[in-house]
Amino acid sequence: MAIKKVEGQMLDHENKMMEKFRKEREKKGKITFTMIKPEAVAANNVGGILKMIEDAGFRILAMKKVLLSKERASSFYEVHKERPFYGELVDYMSGGPIIAAILEKDNAVADFRNLIGATNPAEAAEGTIRKIYATSMGENAVHGSDSDENAIIESDFHFSSEERF
Ligand code: RTP
Ligand code: MG
Repeated sequence: MAIKKVEGQMLDHENKMMEKFRKEREKKGKITFTMIKPEAVAANNVGGILKMIEDAGFRILAMKKVLLSKERASSFYEVHKERPFYGELVDYMSGGPIIAAILEKDNAVADFRNLIGATNPAEAAEGTIRKIYATSMGENAVHGSDSDENAIIESDFHFSSEERF
């Protein structure tokens, strides 16, 4: 009984320390959140895109394949709900499985947006993920967070603390 109690306290302590280290690491602008979008997953481009991400120096901190419900996709993209493409975007993002991931690197948000390129692949720079893999403005292969604050909100939307290493 007493041993169980001590073990329980040690586990509590360990969990608290892990949570503290996670928050330390994530608050300093060192993470971004990405999704490989449904058409890129369906086209078997997951491996190619992940290779570009790892080759650019990002470490995969969490990752999973998931089919978003319409409700979850609507909620994720709520910031865009006044925009004309919102309905289309929600249908598209819930229309097939995605790969969701948290990526770690110094200056993660800005460096990742440079790696993915402009929203419209016709305007994306040579060598960027969207230039290589996106097929249109809507179906543009990958998502990348646009601020440190959103990187944390979006990461928390998809991953619990037990899914991050
Ligand atoms: P993301 O959030 O996916 O990384 O893309 P982004 O910042 O480059 O672009 P954003 O303005 O946040 O738009 C979110 C996603 O909505 C779709 N979109 N369609 N048809 C259109 O005019 C249009 N504009 C945007 C794209 O899938 C875009 O990535
Ligand atoms: Mg955006």
